[in-house]
Amino acid sequence: MFSYVYMKVLETVPRRYDLGINLLSLGMVGKVKGDMASMVEEGDRVLDMGCGTGTLAVLMADRGAKVTGIISTAMLEVAIEKAAARGLNDRIEFREMGVAEMDSLEDGSFDKVTATLVFSELSRDEQEYALREAHRLLKDGGLLIIADEVVPEIDSCCLSCLLLSALKKTFYHLTRIPLLILTFVLTQTSTRPVKGLKEKMREAGFRIISTKRAFSLETVIAEKEGLIRPSEP
Ligand SMILES: C[S@@+](CC[C@H](N)C(=O)[O-])C[C@H]1O[C@@H](n2cnc3c(N)ncnc32)[C@H](O)[C@@H]1O
Repeated sequence: MFSYVYMKVLETVPRRYDLGINLLSLGMVGKVKGDMASMVEEGDRVLDMGCGTGTLAVLMADRGAKVTGIISTAMLEVAIEKAAARGLNDRIEFREMGVAEMDSLEDGSFDKVTATLVFSELSRDEQEYALREAHRLLKDGGLLIIADEVVPEIDSCCLSCLLLSALKKTFYHLTRIPLLILTFVLTQTSTRPVKGLKEKMREAGFRIISTKRAFSLETVIAEKEGLIRPSEP
């Protein structure tokens, strides 16, 4: 099962990150990125927030998209080498930039914004800011696609859904306790799976189109709608 603890450890060895993350997620992360890339069309302008070693950026550029990947760590070097090895330098621009620094990017300049395994590393304020910025940076009708470790939500549409979702949520939290301890021992950080992602996306002015869950990894696709709250750092 995919786990944040391994992810944090792997981030410290960027050159082994891709292999490690795919082995440890049993190929799930690679598959999710393949699915996300398949939503990109030739000529799309795409922003990949927290692009890591550039795997998703390269997949999307391979499909003819113009990609801007932003990242704040040593993974940048690996990403640049990977794009160069695929001859995709003219289609991908990697920028050393935190999600809190996106104000230099132009309004409505992207068709799609993607983020894989990034929101779980952001504080609640950063998450809300990143969502508002994604809204500002997207063209009308543009898509925001987020894949991350997300806390299961309670579904209260009927009694059986309520019971089943409560059971899933309890199981999820129970399995996380040993991982929380292990994460702290190995990395001195705590885990922060994303809570209430869909609600936050709606508040930022997105309409949820679809969600797909594989264990704790959820992919949410949403479309830019009217702005509800102004963007502020
Ligand atoms: C687990 S890695 C995921 C990388 C890549 N998206 C992937 O799926 O392979 C998390 C990434 O988020 C980036 N990140 C974390 N906090 C960030 C922030 N505030 N601004 C920009 N990037 C951030 C890290 O540098 C790292 O590259």
